[in-house]
Amino acid sequence: MTMLLSIQNLSKAFGGLEVVRDLSFDVQEGTATALIGPNGAGKTTVFNLISGVYPVTSGRIRFRGSDIVHLPSRYRIKHGIARSFQNIRLIPRLSVIDNLLIGQHVTLKRTLDVLRPFRLVRGHEWIRAARAELSAFGLSEYADEPVDLLPYGVRKRVDLIRATLSSPSVLMLDEPAAGLNASETRELHSHLDILKGRGVTLLVIEHDMHFIRSICEKVVVLNFGSKIAEGSFEQVRRDEQVREAYLGVEQAA
Ligand SMILES: Nc1ncnc2c1ncn2[C@@H]1O[C@H](COP(=O)(O)OP(=O)(O)O)[C@@H](O)[C@H]1O
Ligand SMILES: [Mg+2]
Repeated sequence: MTMLLSIQNLSKAFGGLEVVRDLSFDVQEGTATALIGPNGAGKTTVFNLISGVYPVTSGRIRFRGSDIVHLPSRYRIKHGIARSFQNIRLIPRLSVIDNLLIGQHVTLKRTLDVLRPFRLVRGHEWIRAARAELSAFGLSEYADEPVDLLPYGVRKRVDLIRATLSSPSVLMLDEPAAGLNASETRELHSHLDILKGRGVTLLVIEHDMHFIRSICEKVVVLNFGSKIAEGSFEQVRRDEQVREAYLGVEQAA
């Protein structure tokens, strides 16, 4: 198995407050890793450090063996480090297809191409790829709908397709099921299952234990910025510190 991402002694402080503390873990290519922990544990900050939104305070982030901590965010994206955000980043008035095409531009090498009007590339392989992908996930009927008219669960999955069309090396998802109802959550999870089956490497912040157990080979548990456990779902579930972090007051009672 290839080591795709290696987080080594990563720390991040905002002002005097250390919100990620000496964190280390690895992500193997083709696997799904869950990053879990109570609210405020530092999970989103870890994603922001990996994607380059914030500079690290100390530590290394190795991607395919090279330290990327000094690489600007846009280069990390070009190297295949993709993420979705808690807030969907689609352009509301544009159609699903147009949103997917805009997403494709991040993989382009020349800035000039980004400025080229989309209409000129109609019929391009991207359009075929985008339509094929919508079809693979059962979303063809929405292809030409403006994004703001779609149900929230569908928008989420379009956002996911946008992120995966460029064949990222690793996809980071921050609470992808947040705000979804039960059936939308099931659809999202089967969407992720399909991606996993294709060999996409996933790093997921997620609370749904059933999902984590069924899809993630590894779970990393954060509490107050520090890793308190790492292992299979069953291993971390049995871990005393993890139980305390989650149950806290209840368990003491
Ligand atoms: N840009 C920032 N400036 C200051 N503090 C921040 C910033 N981002 C996050 N924090 C703080 O870092 C801690 C961890 O936040 P976060 O990574 O969002 O946690 P989680 O995603 O696990 O809920 C919180 O105390 C939060 O207030
Ligand atoms: Mg968060």
